[in-house]
Amino acid sequence: MELQKLAAGNQRISLHRLDITIPEDIKALVWELGDESLDVLINNAGIYLEKNEVKLGGIRYDDWLRTFEVNTLGGVRVSEALLDNVGRSEKRLIVALSSHMGSIADIGTPGSYYYRSSKAALNAAMEAISAALRARDIGVLVLHPGGVATRMGPSGGITTAESVQGMRRIIDNFSMEQSGVFLQYDNTMMPW
Ligand SMILES: NC(=O)c1ccc[n+]([C@@H]2O[C@H](COP(=O)([O-])OP(=O)(O)OC[C@H]3O[C@@H](n4cnc5c(N)ncnc54)[C@H](OP(=O)(O)O)[C@@H]3O)[C@@H](O)[C@H]2O)c1
Repeated sequence: MELQKLAAGNQRISLHRLDITIPEDIKALVWELGDESLDVLINNAGIYLEKNEVKLGGIRYDDWLRTFEVNTLGGVRVSEALLDNVGRSEKRLIVALSSHMGSIADIGTPGSYYYRSSKAALNAAMEAISAALRARDIGVLVLHPGGVATRMGPSGGITTAESVQGMRRIIDNFSMEQSGVFLQYDNTMMPW
């Protein structure tokens, strides 16, 4: 609804239906885009199914698998499918929205098993993809947007405007030597 409103007032926005866990949806998107070039592919979709904390003894393995399907496999599936479109562009950049909760070095409290492990796995996959794509001159950035007051994030978090402005700055200034880094929205380096 919000996207439709945005697109209605801007001819430069086109909307495509996509569930990143459904291969047929991704195929349809690839077909719809055809030869179009994609300067920056931003893998933003994510889920956090544990907001009401899960305790040991109460792990729901189906929720954990679903979290992996969206947060880890989803971004990789879409990136793989749209690689040629990104490769055709000038900017040639793939961005993955990860989280500070994907930093293994940062874990000091219990819980968030599904979300943390899914983002740590996303980080590992994107780091390896960045190594694979260096020869094709396609860059990869892993970003932590900050604690943002969205549906998912903390109500006392920073605004989406502040987060997005910071990430846009990083994307605008991206150069290939930075490929494979993990940065927070304010350009500080994140520990893996
Ligand atoms: N907010 C924070 O504090 C925070 C902190 C660290 C990292 N992040 C990361 O930032 C990204 C954006 O999160 P957010 O805070 O904006 O969360 P959000 O408000 O819950 O939005 C999540 C978005 O992901 C989409 N999505 C979920 N599953 C999908 C699927 N299978 N296929 C396609 N789209 C799907 C949702 O689409 P629908 O609207 O259609 O459901 C929604 O647009 C996520 O990757 C999240 O992990 C957020």
